[in-house]
Amino acid sequence: MILREIRRSYREELNALYAETEADALFYWAAEEILNKKRVDAVACLPLACGRHEEERFLSVLARLKTAEPIQYIFQKAFFDGLELEVNPSVLIPRGETEELVQWAKEYLKEKENPLVLDLCTGSGAIAIALSAAFPSACVHACDISSQALRTAGENARRCGVEVDFFCWDVLSPALPPALSDKAVFDLVIANPPYVLPAERERMRPNVLDYEPSLALFVPEDDPLLFYRRIAAIAIGSLKPEGWLLAEINEALSERNEALWGACGFKGVEIRRDIHGKPRMIRGIKP
Ligand SMILES: C[S@@+](CC[C@H](N)C(=O)[O-])C[C@H]1O[C@@H](n2cnc3c(N)ncnc32)[C@H](O)[C@@H]1O
Repeated sequence: MILREIRRSYREELNALYAETEADALFYWAAEEILNKKRVDAVACLPLACGRHEEERFLSVLARLKTAEPIQYIFQKAFFDGLELEVNPSVLIPRGETEELVQWAKEYLKEKENPLVLDLCTGSGAIAIALSAAFPSACVHACDISSQALRTAGENARRCGVEVDFFCWDVLSPALPPALSDKAVFDLVIANPPYVLPAERERMRPNVLDYEPSLALFVPEDDPLLFYRRIAAIAIGSLKPEGWLLAEINEALSERNEALWGACGFKGVEIRRDIHGKPRMIRGIKP
């Protein structure tokens, strides 16, 4: 089969799930894995036939994509802030808006010497590892409630050559773990907690709903700020004066989050919009 025909199969067979540009992106991602060719080289090879083994691999990937399985889980990798991370169904696939949150954290941390950082709800470890890679003198702690996610995060830190202190902890529990027992030591607390409302399920795509961990996504409809309330309380106790709390937020809850953080005692509360113009990040400064 020539490559162009395989690309046509991707476009046709995935059209119920993905726009043509997305189907093409999936085809070229598969081509990079299977043929070891970057997109520009794969395009040049479109008129050529691939071998039988490669063809079988393209088609088996396509069969999995048709079930809405994310390509990141199929190849067990995702790219985040220039790093390659392992992902599997125990961790959320890190998103572009979270990279923007990391950029905001970097703007702040570049002024700090040997900063102490805490990443709550770390999942694949994306935020913690990106900050540790960018600031080798930083001391980064990160927690999650899922021990499977933490195993993946630990492996990701090892592969990226950074040190992060990962620990298992339910941020909603009232007892503080040892990493937080010293008062007011952190320069930055950062979090991307669950924030999706059950009512938003209807608008979500099956690749997210059917494959990504619901533990990473959903909050109770009647208490959508559950995590933010707790995170703000943890941060107000564990940040140094002038330390920052940064978090990713649900765009539908930005005003409520802003009011909550103000009420929790933060100053300089600021909402930042992502590249699509949506209010997706919040910052508070400990007085
Ligand atoms: C939206 S994901 C974020 C993952 C990662 N930080 C990222 O940005 O890609 C939320 C994470 O919170 C974790 N989580 C859910 N409930 C938790 C809890 N009560 N305590 C700690 N972590 C929790 C989930 O396991 C998941 O890894």
